[in-house]
Amino acid sequence: TRHIILDCDPGHDDAIALILALAHPNLVPLAVTTSAGNQTPDKTLNNALRILTLLNRGDIPVAGGATKPLTRELIIADNVHGETGLDGPALPEPSFSPQAITAVELMAQQIRQSSQPVTLVPTGPLTNIALLLASHSELHPKIERIVLMGGAAGVGNWTPAAEFNIFVDPEAADIVFKSGIPITMCGLDVTHQAQIMDADIERIRAIPNPIAQCVAELLDFFMIYHRDPKWGFIGAPLHDPCTIAWLLKPELFEAQDCWVGIETQSELTLGMTVVDRYQLTGKPANATVLFGLDRLGFVDLLVDSLRVYDP
Ligand code: BDR
Ligand code: CA
Repeated sequence: TRHIILDCDPGHDDAIALILALAHPNLVPLAVTTSAGNQTPDKTLNNALRILTLLNRGDIPVAGGATKPLTRELIIADNVHGETGLDGPALPEPSFSPQAITAVELMAQQIRQSSQPVTLVPTGPLTNIALLLASHSELHPKIERIVLMGGAAGVGNWTPAAEFNIFVDPEAADIVFKSGIPITMCGLDVTHQAQIMDADIERIRAIPNPIAQCVAELLDFFMIYHRDPKWGFIGAPLHDPCTIAWLLKPELFEAQDCWVGIETQSELTLGMTVVDRYQLTGKPANATVLFGLDRLGFVDLLVDSLRVYDP
Protein backbone atom coordinates (compact mmCIF):
# COMPACT_ATOMS: atom_id res chain seq x y z
CA THR A 1 0.00 0.00 0.00
CA ARG A 2 0.94 3.61 -0.50
CA HIS A 3 0.04 6.40 1.92
CA ILE A 4 -1.15 9.47 0.03
CA ILE A 5 -2.35 13.00 0.74
CA LEU A 6 -4.55 14.62 -1.89
CA ASP A 7 -4.22 18.40 -2.11
CA CYS A 8 -6.84 19.57 -4.60
CA ASP A 9 -9.07 22.40 -5.82
CA PRO A 10 -12.24 20.58 -6.90
CA GLY A 11 -12.89 21.17 -9.80
CA HIS A 12 -14.41 18.49 -12.01
CA ASP A 13 -11.21 16.60 -12.80
CA ASP A 14 -10.01 16.92 -9.18
CA ALA A 15 -13.28 15.33 -8.05
CA ILE A 16 -12.82 12.45 -10.49
CA ALA A 17 -9.23 12.01 -9.30
CA LEU A 18 -10.55 11.68 -5.72
CA ILE A 19 -13.20 9.19 -6.79
CA LEU A 20 -10.61 7.16 -8.71
CA ALA A 21 -8.13 7.15 -5.82
CA LEU A 22 -10.68 6.11 -3.21
CA ALA A 23 -11.78 3.15 -5.33
CA HIS A 24 -8.38 1.53 -4.67
CA PRO A 25 -7.69 0.30 -1.13
CA ASN A 26 -3.96 0.02 -1.92
CA LEU A 27 -3.91 3.84 -1.93
CA VAL A 28 -4.43 4.89 1.68
CA PRO A 29 -5.72 8.50 1.91
CA LEU A 30 -4.30 10.08 5.07
CA ALA A 31 -5.92 13.47 4.36
CA VAL A 32 -7.60 15.61 1.75
CA THR A 33 -6.55 19.26 1.76
CA THR A 34 -7.81 22.00 -0.49
CA SER A 35 -6.15 24.76 -2.44
CA ALA A 36 -7.60 27.90 -3.99
CA GLY A 37 -7.62 27.64 -7.78
CA ASN A 38 -10.52 26.41 -9.84
CA GLN A 39 -12.76 28.33 -7.47
CA THR A 40 -12.37 30.39 -4.30
CA PRO A 41 -11.02 28.53 -1.23
CA ASP A 42 -14.40 28.33 0.55
CA LYS A 43 -15.91 26.64 -2.49
CA THR A 44 -13.10 24.17 -3.19
CA LEU A 45 -13.17 23.12 0.48
CA ASN A 46 -16.95 22.69 0.40
CA ASN A 47 -16.66 20.72 -2.84
CA ALA A 48 -14.12 18.32 -1.34
CA LEU A 49 -16.48 17.76 1.60
CA ARG A 50 -19.43 17.20 -0.75
CA ILE A 51 -17.54 14.62 -2.83
CA LEU A 52 -16.35 12.77 0.28
CA THR A 53 -19.92 12.87 1.62
CA LEU A 54 -21.14 11.31 -1.64
CA LEU A 55 -18.47 8.61 -1.21
CA ASN A 56 -19.46 8.13 2.43
CA ARG A 57 -15.83 8.84 3.44
CA GLY A 58 -16.29 11.24 6.33
CA ASP A 59 -13.52 9.23 8.03
CA ILE A 60 -10.87 11.03 5.97
CA PRO A 61 -9.66 14.24 7.64
CA VAL A 62 -10.10 17.34 5.50
CA ALA A 63 -8.61 20.81 5.94
CA GLY A 64 -8.74 24.00 3.95
CA GLY A 65 -5.51 25.63 2.82
CA ALA A 66 -4.11 29.01 1.89
CA THR A 67 -6.75 31.44 0.65
CA LYS A 68 -4.46 32.94 -1.98
CA PRO A 69 -1.15 32.29 -3.73
CA LEU A 70 2.13 33.03 -1.91
CA THR A 71 2.66 36.51 -3.36
CA ARG A 72 -0.01 37.08 -5.99
CA GLU A 73 -3.73 37.61 -6.20
CA LEU A 74 -5.90 34.55 -6.80
CA ILE A 75 -7.05 33.71 -10.32
CA ILE A 76 -9.96 31.27 -10.61
CA ALA A 77 -11.18 29.07 -13.49
CA ASP A 78 -14.93 29.57 -13.19
CA ASN A 79 -15.06 29.66 -16.99
CA VAL A 80 -14.14 25.94 -16.90
CA HIS A 81 -15.74 24.73 -13.66
CA GLY A 82 -18.72 27.07 -13.19
CA GLU A 83 -20.08 29.13 -10.32
CA THR A 84 -19.77 26.39 -7.68
CA GLY A 85 -16.52 24.92 -9.05
CA LEU A 86 -18.41 21.64 -9.55
CA ASP A 87 -21.35 22.68 -11.69
CA GLY A 88 -23.42 19.88 -13.20
CA PRO A 89 -24.42 17.08 -10.83
CA ALA A 90 -26.65 17.51 -7.78
CA LEU A 91 -24.27 16.82 -4.90
CA PRO A 92 -25.20 16.22 -1.25
CA GLU A 93 -24.44 18.92 1.29
CA PRO A 94 -21.45 18.01 3.48
CA SER A 95 -22.34 15.62 6.28
CA PHE A 96 -19.15 16.37 8.21
CA SER A 97 -16.86 19.32 8.97
CA PRO A 98 -13.28 20.09 8.12
CA GLN A 99 -10.60 19.87 10.81
CA ALA A 100 -10.06 23.06 12.82
CA ILE A 101 -6.44 23.24 11.61
CA THR A 102 -4.88 24.42 8.36
CA ALA A 103 -4.03 22.22 5.40
CA VAL A 104 -0.32 22.56 6.20
CA GLU A 105 -0.87 21.54 9.84
CA LEU A 106 -2.98 18.55 8.81
CA MET A 107 -0.45 17.40 6.22
CA ALA A 108 2.42 17.78 8.69
CA GLN A 109 0.53 15.89 11.40
CA GLN A 110 -0.35 13.02 9.06
CA ILE A 111 3.16 12.74 7.62
CA ARG A 112 4.66 12.74 11.12
CA GLN A 113 2.27 10.04 12.33
CA SER A 114 2.45 7.86 9.22
CA SER A 115 4.12 4.48 9.66
CA GLN A 116 5.64 4.82 6.19
CA PRO A 117 6.74 7.58 3.78
CA VAL A 118 3.91 9.57 2.23
CA THR A 119 3.22 10.50 -1.39
CA LEU A 120 1.73 13.96 -1.93
CA VAL A 121 -0.70 14.30 -4.82
CA PRO A 122 -1.38 17.97 -5.61
CA THR A 123 -3.89 18.64 -8.40
CA GLY A 124 -4.29 22.39 -7.92
CA PRO A 125 -1.94 25.34 -7.46
CA LEU A 126 1.05 24.35 -5.30
CA THR A 127 0.62 26.96 -2.54
CA ASN A 128 -0.09 24.52 0.32
CA ILE A 129 2.66 22.12 -0.71
CA ALA A 130 5.22 24.95 -0.92
CA LEU A 131 4.20 26.22 2.53
CA LEU A 132 4.52 22.70 3.95
CA LEU A 133 7.98 22.16 2.44
CA ALA A 134 9.20 25.59 3.54
CA SER A 135 7.95 25.29 7.12
CA HIS A 136 8.70 21.60 7.77
CA SER A 137 12.11 20.69 6.35
CA GLU A 138 12.35 17.96 9.03
CA LEU A 139 9.54 16.11 7.24
CA HIS A 140 11.19 16.04 3.78
CA PRO A 141 12.73 12.59 4.37
CA LYS A 142 9.25 11.20 5.03
CA ILE A 143 7.87 12.52 1.74
CA GLU A 144 8.43 9.74 -0.77
CA ARG A 145 7.36 11.63 -3.88
CA ILE A 146 5.18 14.47 -5.13
CA VAL A 147 2.93 13.36 -8.00
CA LEU A 148 1.48 16.57 -9.36
CA MET A 149 -0.75 17.77 -12.15
CA GLY A 150 0.76 20.92 -13.59
CA GLY A 151 2.91 22.43 -16.26
CA ALA A 152 3.73 21.47 -19.82
CA ALA A 153 6.85 20.85 -21.85
CA GLY A 154 4.88 22.17 -24.81
CA VAL A 155 2.35 24.98 -24.90
CA GLY A 156 0.19 26.21 -22.04
CA ASN A 157 -3.57 26.27 -21.57
CA TRP A 158 -3.94 29.50 -19.57
CA THR A 159 -1.36 31.58 -21.37
CA PRO A 160 0.55 30.49 -24.48
CA ALA A 161 3.42 29.53 -22.14
CA ALA A 162 1.77 28.37 -18.92
CA GLU A 163 -0.57 25.75 -17.58
CA PHE A 164 -3.22 26.96 -15.07
CA ASN A 165 -2.01 25.34 -11.81
CA ILE A 166 1.55 26.63 -12.23
CA PHE A 167 0.44 30.02 -13.54
CA VAL A 168 -1.74 30.67 -10.47
CA ASP A 169 1.21 30.31 -8.08
CA PRO A 170 4.55 30.17 -9.88
CA GLU A 171 6.53 31.04 -6.72
CA ALA A 172 5.04 27.99 -5.00
CA ALA A 173 5.85 25.78 -7.97
CA ASP A 174 9.42 27.09 -7.91
CA ILE A 175 9.81 26.02 -4.26
CA VAL A 176 8.39 22.57 -5.02
CA PHE A 177 10.57 21.91 -8.08
CA LYS A 178 13.69 23.07 -6.20
CA SER A 179 12.89 20.96 -3.10
CA GLY A 180 14.94 17.91 -4.06
CA ILE A 181 11.97 15.63 -3.36
CA PRO A 182 11.26 13.23 -6.27
CA ILE A 183 8.54 14.66 -8.50
CA THR A 184 6.30 13.13 -11.13
CA MET A 185 4.97 15.86 -13.40
CA CYS A 186 1.68 15.10 -15.14
CA GLY A 187 1.61 18.08 -17.46
CA LEU A 188 -0.50 18.95 -20.47
CA ASP A 189 1.78 16.88 -22.73
CA VAL A 190 0.19 13.79 -21.23
CA THR A 191 -3.12 15.06 -19.86
CA HIS A 192 -4.21 16.25 -23.31
CA GLN A 193 -3.90 12.61 -24.36
CA ALA A 194 -6.16 11.58 -21.47
CA GLN A 195 -9.24 12.64 -23.40
CA ILE A 196 -12.62 11.28 -22.45
CA MET A 197 -14.86 10.95 -25.48
CA ASP A 198 -18.68 10.95 -25.65
CA ALA A 199 -18.69 7.15 -26.03
CA ASP A 200 -16.58 6.82 -22.85
CA ILE A 201 -19.06 8.97 -20.94
CA GLU A 202 -21.87 6.68 -22.08
CA ARG A 203 -19.87 3.66 -20.83
CA ILE A 204 -19.64 5.39 -17.46
CA ARG A 205 -23.33 6.34 -17.46
CA ALA A 206 -24.21 2.69 -18.01
CA ILE A 207 -22.56 1.69 -14.71
CA PRO A 208 -25.43 1.30 -12.25
CA ASN A 209 -24.22 3.18 -9.20
CA PRO A 210 -24.66 6.78 -8.04
CA ILE A 211 -20.93 7.55 -8.07
CA ALA A 212 -20.61 6.61 -11.75
CA GLN A 213 -23.72 8.69 -12.49
CA CYS A 214 -22.12 11.65 -10.75
CA VAL A 215 -18.90 11.19 -12.78
CA ALA A 216 -20.91 11.08 -16.02
CA GLU A 217 -22.66 14.32 -15.05
CA LEU A 218 -19.37 15.96 -14.06
CA LEU A 219 -17.99 14.99 -17.46
CA ASP A 220 -21.07 16.32 -19.29
CA PHE A 221 -20.37 19.74 -17.78
CA PHE A 222 -16.57 19.50 -18.19
CA MET A 223 -17.10 18.74 -21.91
CA ILE A 224 -18.80 22.09 -22.54
CA TYR A 225 -15.66 24.20 -22.17
CA HIS A 226 -13.51 21.75 -24.11
CA ARG A 227 -15.82 21.47 -27.12
CA ASP A 228 -14.54 24.82 -28.40
CA PRO A 229 -12.86 23.84 -31.69
CA LYS A 230 -9.86 26.06 -30.89
CA TRP A 231 -8.49 23.26 -28.68
CA GLY A 232 -8.63 20.63 -31.40
CA PHE A 233 -9.94 18.09 -28.87
CA ILE A 234 -12.39 15.29 -29.59
CA GLY A 235 -13.15 14.81 -25.91
CA ALA A 236 -12.29 16.50 -22.62
CA PRO A 237 -8.79 16.15 -21.11
CA LEU A 238 -8.97 14.47 -17.71
CA HIS A 239 -5.91 16.22 -16.29
CA ASP A 240 -5.98 15.46 -12.57
CA PRO A 241 -6.86 11.73 -12.68
CA CYS A 242 -3.58 11.15 -14.55
CA THR A 243 -1.78 11.50 -11.20
CA ILE A 244 -3.76 8.64 -9.68
CA ALA A 245 -3.58 6.56 -12.86
CA TRP A 246 0.23 6.87 -12.79
CA LEU A 247 0.30 5.70 -9.16
CA LEU A 248 -1.93 2.73 -9.99
CA LYS A 249 -0.56 1.76 -13.41
CA PRO A 250 2.67 3.54 -14.38
CA GLU A 251 3.00 1.12 -17.30
CA LEU A 252 0.24 3.09 -19.08
CA PHE A 253 2.63 6.06 -19.38
CA GLU A 254 5.83 7.01 -21.17
CA ALA A 255 8.12 9.09 -18.99
CA GLN A 256 11.46 10.84 -19.10
CA ASP A 257 13.53 12.22 -16.23
CA CYS A 258 14.26 15.89 -16.92
CA TRP A 259 15.38 19.08 -15.25
CA VAL A 260 12.39 21.41 -14.92
CA GLY A 261 12.65 25.10 -14.02
CA ILE A 262 9.80 27.51 -13.27
CA GLU A 263 9.62 31.00 -14.78
CA THR A 264 8.68 33.49 -12.06
CA GLN A 265 9.82 36.79 -13.58
CA SER A 266 8.86 37.27 -17.20
CA GLU A 267 5.54 38.88 -17.96
CA LEU A 268 5.36 36.99 -21.26
CA THR A 269 6.14 33.49 -20.01
CA LEU A 270 5.21 33.68 -16.29
CA GLY A 271 4.48 30.23 -14.88
CA MET A 272 6.15 28.36 -17.72
CA THR A 273 7.65 24.99 -16.83
CA VAL A 274 10.92 24.92 -18.75
CA VAL A 275 11.55 21.22 -19.42
CA ASP A 276 15.10 20.30 -20.46
CA ARG A 277 14.25 17.27 -22.57
CA TYR A 278 17.58 17.14 -24.40
CA GLN A 279 19.85 17.76 -21.37
CA LEU A 280 20.92 21.11 -22.80
CA THR A 281 21.48 22.76 -19.41
CA GLY A 282 23.55 19.97 -17.87
CA LYS A 283 21.42 20.35 -14.73
CA PRO A 284 20.44 17.10 -12.98
CA ALA A 285 16.89 15.88 -13.48
CA ASN A 286 14.46 16.96 -10.74
CA ALA A 287 11.29 15.43 -12.21
CA THR A 288 9.93 12.41 -14.00
CA VAL A 289 7.94 14.08 -16.77
CA LEU A 290 5.10 12.15 -18.38
CA PHE A 291 4.85 12.40 -22.16
CA GLY A 292 2.87 9.43 -23.46
CA LEU A 293 -0.31 7.60 -22.45
CA ASP A 294 -2.20 4.47 -23.47
CA ARG A 295 -5.55 6.29 -23.65
CA LEU A 296 -7.71 3.17 -23.89
CA GLY A 297 -5.93 1.64 -20.93
CA PHE A 298 -6.55 4.85 -18.99
CA VAL A 299 -10.28 4.83 -19.79
CA ASP A 300 -10.55 1.13 -18.88
CA LEU A 301 -8.88 1.85 -15.55
CA LEU A 302 -11.40 4.61 -14.81
CA VAL A 303 -14.40 2.50 -15.87
CA ASP A 304 -13.25 -0.58 -13.95
CA SER A 305 -12.59 1.55 -10.87
CA LEU A 306 -16.10 3.02 -10.94
CA ARG A 307 -17.59 -0.49 -10.87
CA VAL A 308 -16.10 -0.84 -7.37
CA TYR A 309 -18.89 1.45 -6.17
CA ASP A 310 -21.64 -0.91 -7.40
CA PRO A 311 -23.98 -1.93 -4.59
C1 BDR B 1 -5.64 22.08 -14.28
O1 BDR B 1 -6.37 23.27 -14.05
C2 BDR B 1 -7.61 22.99 -13.47
O2 BDR B 1 -8.64 23.67 -14.10
C3 BDR B 1 -7.79 21.50 -13.53
O3 BDR B 1 -8.48 21.04 -12.38
C4 BDR B 1 -6.40 20.96 -13.62
O4 BDR B 1 -5.86 20.73 -12.33
C5 BDR B 1 -5.43 21.91 -15.76
O5 BDR B 1 -4.67 22.95 -16.28
CA1 CA C 1 -7.23 20.78 -10.34
